[in-house]
Amino acid sequence: MNSLKHAKDYIMENRVDKSVLPAFHAAPPCGWINDPNGFSYYEGKIHLFCQLHPYDTVWGPMHWGHFVSDDFISWEEMQVVLAPEECYDYAGCFSGTAIETEKGHLLAYTGVIEKEIGGTITMLQNQCLAIGDGKEYVKFEQNPVVTGELLPKEFSRNDFRDPKLWKEDDCYYMIAGNKTIDGMPQIVLLASLDLLNWKYVSVLAKDDEHKLGSMWECPDFFIMDGKYVLMFSPQDMEGNDELHNGHNSIYFIGDYDKTTHEFKRGDYYSFDDGLDFYAPQTMAFPDGRRIMIGWMQSWDSNIRPPKQKWACMMTIPRELSIVNGRIRQSPVREIEKYHSNQYICECCKVRGTINIPEISGRMLDLSIEITDGDYNEFTIRFASNDKYHCDFIFYKYKNMIEMDRSHSGMIRDTIASRRVKIRYPHRNLRLRFILDKYSAEIFVNNGEQVLSTTFYTPLNAEDICFSCDKEAVMNIVKHELCFNLPGNKQGERNDE
Ligand code: FRU
Repeated sequence: MNSLKHAKDYIMENRVDKSVLPAFHAAPPCGWINDPNGFSYYEGKIHLFCQLHPYDTVWGPMHWGHFVSDDFISWEEMQVVLAPEECYDYAGCFSGTAIETEKGHLLAYTGVIEKEIGGTITMLQNQCLAIGDGKEYVKFEQNPVVTGELLPKEFSRNDFRDPKLWKEDDCYYMIAGNKTIDGMPQIVLLASLDLLNWKYVSVLAKDDEHKLGSMWECPDFFIMDGKYVLMFSPQDMEGNDELHNGHNSIYFIGDYDKTTHEFKRGDYYSFDDGLDFYAPQTMAFPDGRRIMIGWMQSWDSNIRPPKQKWACMMTIPRELSIVNGRIRQSPVREIEKYHSNQYICECCKVRGTINIPEISGRMLDLSIEITDGDYNEFTIRFASNDKYHCDFIFYKYKNMIEMDRSHSGMIRDTIASRRVKIRYPHRNLRLRFILDKYSAEIFVNNGEQVLSTTFYTPLNAEDICFSCDKEAVMNIVKHELCFNLPGNKQGERNDE
């Protein structure tokens, strides 16, 4: 049986009940997902593909899973579209992107194969195409259309992946993550008039200062608010003031000369200061918005309950804009369609610990603005009961914020908290929490900073309380998020 059919049949038989998954964050029907792929708009629908290993809750031979949405919030699961089964991709259909063309929905992905070189098995990575109708996709006969042999000989053929494809002035362009054979990460640019014959053009950006990790994965490149943005995810970073240890996701804002293909960049900035965020990519929505989605998971942590049959999820899609030279993110406005049970409280005093009976739950859009007060520490405790809790803490005297999931029910000795400075302090601290059962995305000061974190606390831990070492004054707006989820067993852990 072919691998694509096998994967589809396996998912049919092994899918988990939808009610145990996050309500509005794309998550796998069973098995494991990583990077978002092919995030695009095609024939009136939003398409999101992903790296999928349906057979286990850990990374394995990569397929492309598929979701479709009308509003970025409710995701319909579609059938798997790519499986690793050809002579040019049998070791994996790795990440990539999608564009709308006259001939159909075009996917660009990395076909991975293995070769024995000098007694060791190494991966070779080449770029491949597939075309489809929004449901089923056919790989190009000419695959791989771009091989590492097109690159200068001092560039790696083993680390050459994650094509971002676009069309401009009748020419197709592709960028991909790459490195030199002596280990310097870079993004390479290629071009083609017909999608089949490609030529290497230039290095769009490189780590000539050797500051940004070992390899740059999942690049994206686009124009927004009159500026060019290059974003990617560097692996194996040493942390600094801007970035944490491990794998990060960053962007440069700069200018691009279309004739010389040179990108002049400014400084790099981090996308997310939470514990779980990687490999984001964007799409241009027809109404002009640039929307980004990321993988809400870290490669270095695994805190899921061992018996859970699905692993990992995507972030909420986020609207991007450039303000004062930095990217701001806010949850897509479509989330407001799902608001219910609004509760507003103004000038609410917090001294010691307080509960507000109207504020609890694990599926919420909750905005808090601290408007006044003389205090050192302010804590918002959520996903809480007498056994478990997560804390978001504002250390006013240090201008720091912290997300702490140490008491969320983790049974692994994995990093549990991250503390970062508030990059642009304002008089008032504004926070917006998007909670969806097993995750919190906290948008700080209108999305100038975001902290995305997962936790797998049993769903009956749904209390929220506020505490302050002295006295603070806050305004609150709460909306519950309401979805038609028949049989959703609130309060039960996802172990079955
Ligand atoms: C990033 C990544 C990509 C690769 C994919 C494989 O998370 O390593 O570079 O294409 O995952 O699943």
